[in-house]
Amino acid sequence: MTLLWTPDLELGISVIDSQHQRIVDYINQVDHSRQTASAAELAEVLDELVDYTLSHFAFEETLMEEAGYPFIKAHKKVHQLFTKRVDAFQQRTKAGEDVTEELLHVLKAWLVNHIKRDDKDYSAIVIENMEAATERVKARKGGFFSRLFK
Ligand SMILES: [Fe+2]
Ligand SMILES: [Fe+2]
Repeated sequence: MTLLWTPDLELGISVIDSQHQRIVDYINQVDHSRQTASAAELAEVLDELVDYTLSHFAFEETLMEEAGYPFIKAHKKVHQLFTKRVDAFQQRTKAGEDVTEELLHVLKAWLVNHIKRDDKDYSAIVIENMEAATERVKARKGGFFSRLFK
């Protein structure tokens, strides 16, 4: 079943929202390939999905760190545990087992839950930090130009 992108998955951080949307697209692509593509093509899409998700985790962790999010340790732990789970799936695939259906089920359930609960929790402080950074850039520019035209 196609995983739908719904407004309650949005954090209001466009860079993160588009990464989450991309992960949802990948999941749907895996779902589609499962029915139409060869085993090799499917394995390729699965690898891409895993790679993309892992780099998304790293990106998210940088944003949380920069914003001083107080629960970053716990959030990183959740990412790590999930990565281990995905690793286990990849090992089973290498051993010749077809884990696609199980993996898809886990990905869909985990991702939606993680975005709505854990990711949503850091959104306010990250938005605040990004806005403050934009303000600092504006203030610096203002200072520079006003000095220039004095
Ligand atoms: Fe996360
Ligand atoms: Fe996320």
